[in-house]
Amino acid sequence: MDRIRIIGGNKLEGTIPISGAKNAALPLMIAALLTEDTLILDNVPRLADVALLQRILGNHGVDIMSAGKRPGDTEYQGQTLHISAKTIIDTTAPYELVSKMRASFWVIAPLIARMHEAKVSLPGGCAIGTRPVDLLIMALEKLGAELTIDGGYVIARAPGGLKGATIDFPKVTVSGTHVALMAATLASGTTIIDNAACEPEIVDVADCLIKMGAKISGAGTPRITVEGVAKLHGARHTVLPDRIETGTYAMAVAMTGGDVQLSGARPELLQSALDVLAQAGATITVNNDGIRVARNGAGISPVTVTTAPFPGFPTDLQAQLMALMTRAKGTSHITETIFENRFMHVQELARFGSRIQLDGETATIDGVAKLRGAPVMATDLRASVSLVIAALAAEGETMVNRIYHLDRGFERLEEKLSACGAQIERISG
Ligand code: UD1
Repeated sequence: MDRIRIIGGNKLEGTIPISGAKNAALPLMIAALLTEDTLILDNVPRLADVALLQRILGNHGVDIMSAGKRPGDTEYQGQTLHISAKTIIDTTAPYELVSKMRASFWVIAPLIARMHEAKVSLPGGCAIGTRPVDLLIMALEKLGAELTIDGGYVIARAPGGLKGATIDFPKVTVSGTHVALMAATLASGTTIIDNAACEPEIVDVADCLIKMGAKISGAGTPRITVEGVAKLHGARHTVLPDRIETGTYAMAVAMTGGDVQLSGARPELLQSALDVLAQAGATITVNNDGIRVARNGAGISPVTVTTAPFPGFPTDLQAQLMALMTRAKGTSHITETIFENRFMHVQELARFGSRIQLDGETATIDGVAKLRGAPVMATDLRASVSLVIAALAAEGETMVNRIYHLDRGFERLEEKLSACGAQIERISG
């Protein structure tokens, strides 16, 4: 199994290109199941999760062609995928595949909408809390699907097709909103999704669906309205930049000090995180090429932050912020409200000599003057990268084990960081 070795202490200086957003690319690829025509997606990140979803879609009979680089493409340019779900040969998504990536459960929405049937394995346990799918099931039932659970599978049927309805989510859910939105595009009549997630990835998927002929208004607000259409057609869409990758590198720079241009980043996708970074002592400048982050001389100031749905501070940056706060001059408080159990990084961060106390949903972090490198283990995607951030500022060597979590969500992480002066290398095997 690959590991990452980091010798801490170097400032980051240079440019980091930001990849396409994983959390948009996955639902966009799934949305290709809604049409017989080809959906072309540009700027798809080269990630393990994307490769796995290609396999899952292939199992349904979807053809995916990855176009080669074109003249003028930069080294880091995302890939272009031509996705054709002309013939769906199988409406079952098996346990062996769905259990590897929760988001693959979302195929249930286009399958039931277009094929009027689907059999999709329940995703099963996950390292960060229970993460149920009850609200996804509720949304599909509102749209007229009959669902039963048998042998660990959700079996969905809608013999006459889905019918528009009002879906009022009792809590904000990104997965629920994606599923409701995709399913409603081909339902007859009008669907209203209330208390919808406002995350930029929802807006990106809605934009793509509109290009495919869907009639959607209000994406990015808590009320989305969908007028169902009989058919969707092919389209071409560029995946938006990854706000979590952007915020992660911004925190890495705030941690080590230095000056880095995050090329292609869009500030409006992570304003709350940029505000927190500014409060922590980083200088954030928005320019034509993206966002520039610097921290020179001044130390890191403590912050008090609570995670919240967009536009609040994202749960997917909580672990990275905690790593940064381990070196703040004072005491920080971070409260996690989206996922239970999303504090697995705390015990690994302790291995660097950090001081963090947990009390229910809140972590209290007493900043220390120095972190020391240590062998650590990656637990989930965002937790893993928080260990990299700590290691970049720690004295001596850190070995991050089990980095397949990082490969799920961060494209060429060690190359991007070493190009800015970090001492970081992947050790294969
Ligand atoms: C997505 C993101 C993930 C991010 C999260 C919150 C993708 C691929 N993943 O995850 O990176 O951390 O949004 O921004 O886009 N819930 C229920 N019942 C349900 C569905 C969800 O109770 O049926 C709960 C969850 O347990 C959680 C909360 O709702 O406590 C939010 O979950 P949700 O927004 O659906 O997260 P995901 O879409 O799984």
